[in-house]
Amino acid sequence: MAEATLSRTRRIDAWWVQPALTALGLAVFFGYLTYRAFQATYVWYEPYISPTVAPPLFTAASGYPGGVPVEHAWLGAFPSFWPSFLPQSPAFFIPAFAIMFRFTCYYYRGAYYKAFVFAPPTCAVRGATKRYKGETALLVFQNLHRYTLYAALFLLVCLWWEAGVAFFKGGKFGVGVGTIVMVLNAAFLSAYTFGCHSWRHLIGGKVDCFSCDGRVSPRYKLWKGSSWFNERHMLFAWCSLVWVCFTDFYIQLVARGVIPDLNTW
Ligand code: FES
Repeated sequence: MAEATLSRTRRIDAWWVQPALTALGLAVFFGYLTYRAFQATYVWYEPYISPTVAPPLFTAASGYPGGVPVEHAWLGAFPSFWPSFLPQSPAFFIPAFAIMFRFTCYYYRGAYYKAFVFAPPTCAVRGATKRYKGETALLVFQNLHRYTLYAALFLLVCLWWEAGVAFFKGGKFGVGVGTIVMVLNAAFLSAYTFGCHSWRHLIGGKVDCFSCDGRVSPRYKLWKGSSWFNERHMLFAWCSLVWVCFTDFYIQLVARGVIPDLNTW
């Protein structure tokens, strides 16, 4: 007889709350970002740009209210051979790296395996599968995470650049609420990225001893710093995810004229 998968535990606490909240949070925030990535409207309000489309390689020449201006896109308007059934969204290019980076992140892997496929749902609760196969077969692509890190680092530089650009409107220096929101977005994403296990290995791996010559190396200090972020990786994973959504939401509201942007310009 088939076993009831989620009831096979002796735990009497509300063990299902955490995986249920995780599933809800992932569905809401990733759902929002996916929707906005396909929408690509109200993602621009000078000098602000939504992280869902930044940095823009191409942008739509017309038909997308509040879209990124052509002169701000690295390569201008979408080419004429772009398939008509696809939206002309800059999100399909460089910003898509962020999805690959998060999808293969060690923390998120654990979170969505537990939340969506119950493999297993949590500690000491039998999961949906009886045999643990690890990340083999189809899931072997998760090993690409170390390479998506390089793309994420590049994206981080771009987002800090866009945050810097957000201090200038019409060539005049100033600061607006949107500037602060964008700077915080880049900061949270940095805290998330610099706590990445692959990053920590990149800067601290392959050595047996950091101070064999009696001196503490700069590399050791860097690794210690990364370890601090690594211990809080889950926290920054959520903070950065929520703040990316908030940044887009704020810029969308300002671009739609729903709320004013307080600023010094
Ligand atoms: S392990 Fe989470 S971002 Fe690399």
